[in-house]
Amino acid sequence: MHALSAGDVDLTTILADMTLPNPVMTASGCAAAGRELHQFFDVADLGAVVTKSIMRDPRSGRPTPRMAETPSGMLNSIGLQGPGIDAFLAVDLPWLVRRRARPIVSIAGSTLVEYAELARRVGQSPGVTAVEVNISCPNVENRGLVFACDPYQAAKVISVVRRETPPGVPVLAKLSPDVTSIVTVAESVMEAGATGLTLVNTLLGISIDTESLRPVLGGVTGGLSGPAIRPVALRCVWQVHQAMPEVPVVGVGGIASGQDALEFLLAGASAVQVGTVIFNDPGAPMRVVAELAAELAARGFAKAADAVGFAHRPARLPGDTG
Ligand code: DHB
Repeated sequence: MHALSAGDVDLTTILADMTLPNPVMTASGCAAAGRELHQFFDVADLGAVVTKSIMRDPRSGRPTPRMAETPSGMLNSIGLQGPGIDAFLAVDLPWLVRRRARPIVSIAGSTLVEYAELARRVGQSPGVTAVEVNISCPNVENRGLVFACDPYQAAKVISVVRRETPPGVPVLAKLSPDVTSIVTVAESVMEAGATGLTLVNTLLGISIDTESLRPVLGGVTGGLSGPAIRPVALRCVWQVHQAMPEVPVVGVGGIASGQDALEFLLAGASAVQVGTVIFNDPGAPMRVVAELAAELAARGFAKAADAVGFAHRPARLPGDTG
């Protein structure tokens, strides 16, 4: 058998009714609407660009400081700062469409009515590849508004979004790992009409300044991201794929290399998102594409799709050559 090289690997990714040239996306919140990455690489070369969650109205966000470094990760409390849906649809989305990128638009609402309006307006906009529903933002005043922490509330949001989004536009539900059973929430939102799942959002954390003797973040608590959360995110993907192998999953949480991305594919993700690493290596998403191709080739996978869920197969016994 002759060895595969990275260039031979077919990275084409089919998930949740989308066909993408490769399985690597940006993670929401780590590169605004993609324009700031364009100086480092062509955003159209990514599988998709996932935009910072957009809300109906412009928002100035939470008090500063908004970021804190933590071991192998970071905490952030931005508070969904953003220009609001009018400016997003007038400026940011058309830019992505003109660049021939595949935009996955992340939406966040405080009420079902807001989610409905966002889904309708985003879904009707030409060039939108999918809607990602952020029901798991940790930085809301009222923790009762983390819809993804309650299977019933999560399903209510997803069914409203599904109803308002044109049938051809996939709806990805982005879930929180801060739950007792990720599978229960995953089942609930799939039943409510999600096309696929993004697993997972940040974990709720806190950091305390031992000089001021007060919380570091102006918002007190924040979302933990980066390599520190990778095993948790990977476990969520593993459990959901185990319970529902047919459900399309996008894996996210601390992915910084092609090897990290491969772990998520093996656990059952069909695609991955690269986030926190962008802050110190803006070229990371395209580096991960190249590294993933090399990692797959080195293990004899001719197609990325062949690796999806592979780790769930029974291990071969020593001496088993079949
Ligand atoms: C914010 C939103 C998120 O979904 C997240 O995981 C972290 C931070 C925010 O805007 O504050």
